Amino acid sequence: MKYKGIIFDLDGVICFTDEYHYLAWKELGESIGIFNFTREDNHRLRGVSRMESLEILLEKSKRKFSLEEKFKLAEEKNRIYRNLLAKMSEADLEQETFTVLKDLKAKGLKLAIGSSSKNARYILEKIGLLTFFDAISDGNNITKSKPNPEVFLKAAGLLNIKPGDLIVVEDAKAGIDAAVAGGFASVGIGDAANYEKSDYKIEKLRELLDIIEK
Ligand code: BG6
Ligand code: MG
Repeated sequence: MKYKGIIFDLDGVICFTDEYHYLAWKELGESIGIFNFTREDNHRLRGVSRMESLEILLEKSKRKFSLEEKFKLAEEKNRIYRNLLAKMSEADLEQETFTVLKDLKAKGLKLAIGSSSKNARYILEKIGLLTFFDAISDGNNITKSKPNPEVFLKAAGLLNIKPGDLIVVEDAKAGIDAAVAGGFASVGIGDAANYEKSDYKIEKLRELLDIIEK
């Protein structure tokens, strides 16, 4: 086997919470007079932390906000977002995704999550995967978010496998940059499948089974 394990980003790779992020940021934006936050703008938030996402939203406001106000806004966005996440269930995990994960595990690979989200464990619990992975590294155990490799390096540490023996699967350019910076092989899916820095570009997760054998 060419690799010993795989680190998966969560949002946009294992499940799809983008729309919930969008709806929550849009609602928060409207409460402070921002009425032009689009799904296109929402793409820029992929992989970046909650506070950095807020700064991107606030680019659309003429008002200046204090740090205290910004923390309150981020908290409010999270409240709205978690209300949306509460409706998620095992039905939000595609059967094929689960089958591929099980097939990869059956090959002896160690599997981890490397997500910028502080809600990663909540989402994993909702979709029935909280106890499936060998390690979970998320927004709660990092100080620098993607494109900094910290979240993936922490996952590698938890797995006790060196970055060169791991691949990172990402849908965000910031995530691919983080993987490259950390010395991991990178696999781009979705948005990141068109990114030149992705070592491998895939359409479906099942293609991982070919990559690990190469
Ligand atoms: C990432 C998302 O997974 O998590 C980003 O792609 C988001 O859009 C980030 O900003 C932080 O999420 P949370 O759940 O901690 O607010
Ligand atoms: Mg993502």
